[in-house]
Amino acid sequence: MNTAHPIDLDSYWMPFTSNREFKRNPRLIARAEGVHYVTPDGRRILDGLSGLWCCGAGHNRSEIADAIAAQARELDYAPAFQFGHPKVFELASRMRELTPDGLDRVFFVNSGSEAADTALKIARGYWRQKGLPGKTRLIGRAKGYHGVNFGGMSVGGIGGNRKLFGSTPETDHLSHTLLPENQFTRGQPDHGAHLAEELEALVALHDASNIAAVIVEPFAGSAGVIPPPKGYLQRLRQICDQHDILLIFDEVITGFGRCGARTGADFFGVTPDIANFAKQMTNGSVPMGAVVVREEIYQTFIDTGGPEYMVEFPHGYTYSGHPLACAAALAALDLFEREGFDRQVAEKAGFFEDCIHGLANHPHVTDVRNLGFAGALTLEPYPGEPARRPYEVAMYCWQRGLYLRYGGDTVQFGPAFVMDKSDIAEMFNIVGDALRAA
Ligand SMILES: Cc1ncc(COP(=O)(O)O)c(C=O)c1O
Repeated sequence: MNTAHPIDLDSYWMPFTSNREFKRNPRLIARAEGVHYVTPDGRRILDGLSGLWCCGAGHNRSEIADAIAAQARELDYAPAFQFGHPKVFELASRMRELTPDGLDRVFFVNSGSEAADTALKIARGYWRQKGLPGKTRLIGRAKGYHGVNFGGMSVGGIGGNRKLFGSTPETDHLSHTLLPENQFTRGQPDHGAHLAEELEALVALHDASNIAAVIVEPFAGSAGVIPPPKGYLQRLRQICDQHDILLIFDEVITGFGRCGARTGADFFGVTPDIANFAKQMTNGSVPMGAVVVREEIYQTFIDTGGPEYMVEFPHGYTYSGHPLACAAALAALDLFEREGFDRQVAEKAGFFEDCIHGLANHPHVTDVRNLGFAGALTLEPYPGEPARRPYEVAMYCWQRGLYLRYGGDTVQFGPAFVMDKSDIAEMFNIVGDALRAA
């Protein structure tokens, strides 16, 4: 028991947290208001990452809170298997409308990690049902993040997240696109489309008859905001088409506003065969995710499903399409459309870009990257300790009233879509001071 603190901090094994350091130096959040958090002792903290990239509408939106409360009184839970409730169907149609044409069938999950593993299972099952059982290999990308379950982790490419656990067989990886010649680029870099050709090399190595799918984030988020080189995603799409490989976009960060468009697919003009969503769907209020697939993928399972009373896709979660999550998502997507979060981001992205690139000449900054309302700084490592300086910068910011994310050798920014220019400027002023102090 940590006797220095009034609550028991010991029992909770915190996720993706330096437990020893946190429990010595707790950073507790008690409440939220708009784009701020409030600590138990009443300090206001500007939220520089929309929670964890998920609260773009700002916190505690009454429209969402009311919808969740009303739903909890009307129907708290309905069995997800073999029975349904009206809101889950309503939400699926809404997702279909809001995602690119051609992505027409919606499978609900509870997180980005579950979305990743669900999409990978759909890809393998699809090829089996089409009589091509050899197409099993799953291709990810270095520096990719697709959550922490076995499939997503195995196609993910952040070493620290994998080395303790091993990975599932039959995966491989493209190189990442973080090239030195693109340092300090605003938005999408000019160099690096050629890296998509590595997919041709993997086809030559494994043969397309053994490859089920390629999964990438439209821009890599967790590795520190790595926008795709111009033409890169288009070329991946072409190679996938040429070799009958499914293209999966993990839109868990890019979906519903972050890029300044409805989805990353819309922003970059490339439609995948399968798109994963989570975070922004409910504005972070209730866990939920979705996998949206092409009609023909769904129909393949339906057509090969055996007698009508049989389950066509033996997959799902007790909480798939949970009524509270559906109510929250419908309210959050109403807000998305009514308040035009994609438009708001598109309008303010230039200001965000100017502010973050204003830090380019500050001490220790070795790269600045941005797209829409997402940005990251790479910081010069201490010898042998790349993660230390971002931690120090983040701790300074926390003391000064700013929450930002630190990971690897980067600090990351993903403000709420509703954050105004003065708060954006304030955020980067604090970071500037932190870099000078570091
Ligand atoms: C692109 C991407 N995929 C998947 C995930 C995992 O989502 P979750 O933490 O909800 O499982 C994340 C989380 O940051 C993500 O950014």
